[in-house]
Amino acid sequence: MLEVTTTQKFKVLMVCLGNICRSPLAEGILKTKISLLGINYIEVASAGTDDYHLGSSPDGRSVAIANEFNVDISNQKSRHFKVTDFDEFDLIYVMDKSNYSDVLALARNKNDKQKVKLILNELYPKQDKEVPDPYYGGDKGFENVYKMLDKACESLLTKLILINE
Ligand code: 4NP
Repeated sequence: MLEVTTTQKFKVLMVCLGNICRSPLAEGILKTKISLLGINYIEVASAGTDDYHLGSSPDGRSVAIANEFNVDISNQKSRHFKVTDFDEFDLIYVMDKSNYSDVLALARNKNDKQKVKLILNELYPKQDKEVPDPYYGGDKGFENVYKMLDKACESLLTKLILINE
């Protein structure tokens, strides 16, 4: 299923609820790792299962924690997950089980469903752990989320690179 070629882009979509806290961080972290490695065959984007924050910039607390690690997410804009994302993206990483069921509810077939994964299963296979929603918490929650996503992105990128070798 995970086939990467250097002529065809492999596209990854990060998804959370509002697309202003967790998935923008996941997008920015993975993009930065890809760019530092000079990889040109993986593309990353993000979306939210809800449209409360459509067109908004990421939450300032996500922007701030990303900045601390030299990841710039300030130019991102929230967008709503759409059914055609199943056609455009090869892998769809969701942050929690609620995102998982919301995205799966839009899947049209088995192929769509197989693309959707809980991102922390990259680190803790089959454990179905969730990236907690930091929106109503303090800055520590954002730091915790950043560190989880950094590890998960490192792991999934290693896997994508190995598949391409
Ligand atoms: P996210 O966090 O799903 O990580 O972007 C949230 C952002 C906004 C809200 C909830 C979660 N909200 O209720 O507005």
